[in-house]
Amino acid sequence: MLFLLLIQEPAQLSLDLRAPGVAVSPYLYGHMTEEINYSYDGGLYAELIRNRAFLDDRNKPAHWSPVEAGSTVTLERAGMSAARPVALKVTGGTTNDGYWGIPIRPATTYSLSVWAKAETAGPLRASLESVDGKTIFAEAVINGVGADWKNHTVKLKTAKGLKPTKDARFALRSGPGKTFMLSQVSLFPPTYRNRPNGNRPDLMKLLSDMKPKFLRFPGGNYLEGNTPADRFPWKETLGPIETRPGHRGTWGYRSSDGMGLLEFLLWCEETNAKPLLGVYAGYALNGEYTKAGPELEPFVQEALDEIEYIVGGPETKWGARRIADGHPKPFDLEWVEVGNEDGFDKSGSYESRFVQFYDAIKKKYPKMQVISSTGGKDFLGAKFPITQRRPDLWDEHYYTESWDMMGMATKYDTYDRKGPKVFVGEWAAHDTVAPWQAGPNAGPTPNMKCTIADAAFMTGMERNSDIVEMACYAPLLVNVNPGGRQWSLNLIGYDALESFGSPSYYAQTLFAQNLGNRTVELKLSGVPTQRKGTQTLPGIFASATRDTKSGALYLKVVNALPGSQSIDIDLQGANLQPDGTWTYLTGYLKDMNSIAEPLKVAPITRKLTGLGSKFQQRVPGYSVNVFKLQTKR
Ligand code: AHR
Repeated sequence: MLFLLLIQEPAQLSLDLRAPGVAVSPYLYGHMTEEINYSYDGGLYAELIRNRAFLDDRNKPAHWSPVEAGSTVTLERAGMSAARPVALKVTGGTTNDGYWGIPIRPATTYSLSVWAKAETAGPLRASLESVDGKTIFAEAVINGVGADWKNHTVKLKTAKGLKPTKDARFALRSGPGKTFMLSQVSLFPPTYRNRPNGNRPDLMKLLSDMKPKFLRFPGGNYLEGNTPADRFPWKETLGPIETRPGHRGTWGYRSSDGMGLLEFLLWCEETNAKPLLGVYAGYALNGEYTKAGPELEPFVQEALDEIEYIVGGPETKWGARRIADGHPKPFDLEWVEVGNEDGFDKSGSYESRFVQFYDAIKKKYPKMQVISSTGGKDFLGAKFPITQRRPDLWDEHYYTESWDMMGMATKYDTYDRKGPKVFVGEWAAHDTVAPWQAGPNAGPTPNMKCTIADAAFMTGMERNSDIVEMACYAPLLVNVNPGGRQWSLNLIGYDALESFGSPSYYAQTLFAQNLGNRTVELKLSGVPTQRKGTQTLPGIFASATRDTKSGALYLKVVNALPGSQSIDIDLQGANLQPDGTWTYLTGYLKDMNSIAEPLKVAPITRKLTGLGSKFQQRVPGYSVNVFKLQTKR
C-alpha cells in the first residue's frame, strides 16, 4: 500500500486565466433560517427565561417550579391582556430552569423585566443561582409591586472572577406564604451590539464570519405552519414583546415570537446580509390550500403588507409602522419567495397561486425578484410546473446522501440554461441516515464525510455561478441538548453557554470568504477515482474564481480520497506573485466538532512561497483546500 502511494502519479490541474470565465453571482452564499432545533428560543434569540409568558403548556407551568417546600406555582387564566391571557400565581417563590440551564458569566450584567402584581407580597428578590439554590451568582430586589399589573426592571450583576457555568437557574422569591402574580418574565444577558431584544454574541460572530450575502427567512416549514392558522404570523410579531402572543411552531414546540419580523431584518443588518423574504402562499403542511382567486386575495394582501413593512416609506401604512417600531430606513429587499416547497402540493394549485402572488408583487414592485418554491426543474421528477409566469429564480432543495452529493458536483455543468436562475435554498449532505429520520441518534452537526461532499457540491455551484445565483445550507442552528433538535444535521451547534462550528461550517466559511467575481476555467486530469459498488466518481473536485479588481485568484480543491495527493498546477496566462496562502481542513471521515471539542476539525493556514505559473502541491487525504494566490496587475 505504501509503495502504491509513493508511486501515485500527480493529478493535473490546469487553469486558463486567458479565458473570460463567467460572472460569479455576488449573492452566491447566504443563510437560511427557521425556528427548528431551538434556533431562536433557546438559541440565537438571547432570551434566557423559558416559557416567559406561561403559554407553552396549557396544563402546567412548564419550566417553572416552586422555589422550596411550602411554595406553590399554578397557572391562572388571569393574565394582563389578550396576548398574555395566562398568569403564574406564586406563593413563596418560583424558579425557571431556562433552556437547558442559564449561562452565568463573570462581570456580566443581566437585564430583568417582570410584569407582576400582588396585594400584599412586599419586595420580590430576583436571583441567578446554582440549581440547588445554595450559591447565588447575582441578585436584585424588585420594589413597588402593587395591586395592578406593572412592569418592573432591574439589573443583576455577577462578580469578576466567577467560573462560567450553565448549571444555574433563575429565582424570584417573595417569602413564605406571600403570594404574587406574574404575566411575563424576561431576562437578557448582553446581546450582540447591545441591541435590546437582541441576539447571542457568540452565534452572531459565527454567522457574520461566514460573510453571508442574504438571509432566507422565516422558513422552511415554519413559514407554512402545520395548518394555515399556524403560518408565521408576522403582524403579531411586531412591537413590545409583551404584546406578542407567540404561536405554535411546526417542529413540536411553541414560538415566543421574540424573533419577529423586525428582528429578522435587524439580524440581516447586523450580518451585512440582504433579506430574502418567504411569504405564506396559501398552502400549509397538512395539505390544506386556498384556491387562487378571491379566497387567496387576503393572503396576497398579507404578503404585500409585509413587503411594505420592509421597504415602505412614511406615507405608507406599514412603512410608517416600521418607523414607529424604531427603524426609519427601509430595508433593501430584493427577493420574495412564494411559499416553501410547494412541489409537495399535489393539488395542482401552485401555478395559479404563484401567478396571483407574482402579478400582485410585480405590479407594486416591478424590480422585485420573485422566486418559485416548487423545487426546480426536476423536483420529485416533476416537470417545470410554471408555464404562465416565469419566476426570476426557482428554489431547489437537496438533502442528499454524501456519495450522491459528490455526484451532484457536476449537476450544474450541463444544466438547462434556458430556465430561471437557480436558488439552492436548502441543501446538506448526510452520512448514512437522512436527517429527518435520524433524530437524536445522529449528528447533531455534519462530520468530515458530509463536509467533503458539501465542499464537492459547492465546487460545482461555483463553477456554474452563471446559473446558480444563490445557495444556503439548512438547517443553520441547533441546540445540541437532547430534546433540542428535531433535525439531525445542522451547521452550528450550541448549548446555553458554548457554541461551535461544524467542519462543514468551516468549509463553507472558507468558500464564502475566498470568492472572486469571475470563474476561471479549469481542467482536472489524471485524477484517481473512488468507487461505491459499481459506481465511480472522481476522487478530487475543484473550482477557481478570481477577483478582476485585486488580481486575487482563489483555487478550491477537495480531496475525497483517503490518501494525500500531489497535484501539478498549471496556471495558463497567469503572472503569479511568488507568495500565497493555503488553508485546509482535514480529518477522519467520522470526525465531528462538538461542545467538548469545538475545533477538532478547523482550518489550518500555511504560507506558500516561491510560486510560479506551474507548481506542484500535495493535499492531505480527506481534505478541503483553499489556495489564495495573487496575480501581478
Ligand atoms: O430544513 C428542514 C426542513 O426541510 C425545512 O423546514 C423544509 O423546507 C425542508 O423540508
